[in-house]
Amino acid sequence: MLVTLEGLDGSGKTSCIEALQAHGGLPAETTFTREPTGAWYGDAVRRSLGDDTADPLAELFLYTADHAAHLADTVGPALEAGNPVVSDRYSDSRYAYQGVTLADRFDDAVAFVRSVHRPWTRPPDLTVYLDVDPETAAERAGANNKFETADYLAAVRENYERLTDEDPDRFVRVDATQSEEAVVEQVLGTVTGVL
Ligand code: TYD
Repeated sequence: MLVTLEGLDGSGKTSCIEALQAHGGLPAETTFTREPTGAWYGDAVRRSLGDDTADPLAELFLYTADHAAHLADTVGPALEAGNPVVSDRYSDSRYAYQGVTLADRFDDAVAFVRSVHRPWTRPPDLTVYLDVDPETAAERAGANNKFETADYLAAVRENYERLTDEDPDRFVRVDATQSEEAVVEQVLGTVTGVL
């Protein structure tokens, strides 16, 4: 079972992941992981995030390389061993975020980014989507990188909406404007319910 957490920067994913890790109710062999990863591919992504002039298409392939290595080295082996995996961001982050950075390069950038993944990725079984308005997200995130402005996040959110509309059975939406305790409780309930 592969569970992913998605949402805008500042949606509260990190608190939810920490609560899930601290929670005694998940199987002991659960693998917690994230994208961008801590491997050198993830370092390349973070380097690109800090570069305002990075080419968005090159950046897509850095993120995607990180995802390929993540699947090969972490997610795939854990699933093959029969262990649950919980990932803080995963392929939907690419569809939503690079769907915006590449919007002026492709007629349907979300579809393009999906098509790059489709032949080889492993789709999540369940995706918890922490839904927050872009203004709150930008304020909470504190605009640390080039993606964390309200306008940009509004477009990312539209892409997340599209993804949830296209795949309603996979997504569980959580209203992330609620108090942190309420959000964490809902996410814990959802994830412990399936794992
Ligand atoms: P994030 O998980 O927020 O990292 P941190 O907790 O270190 O801030 O991810 C960093 C940024 O990268 C975030 O703005 C979202 C963006 N991102 C993409 O644009 N595409 C992707 O595929 C991923 C995984 C992240």
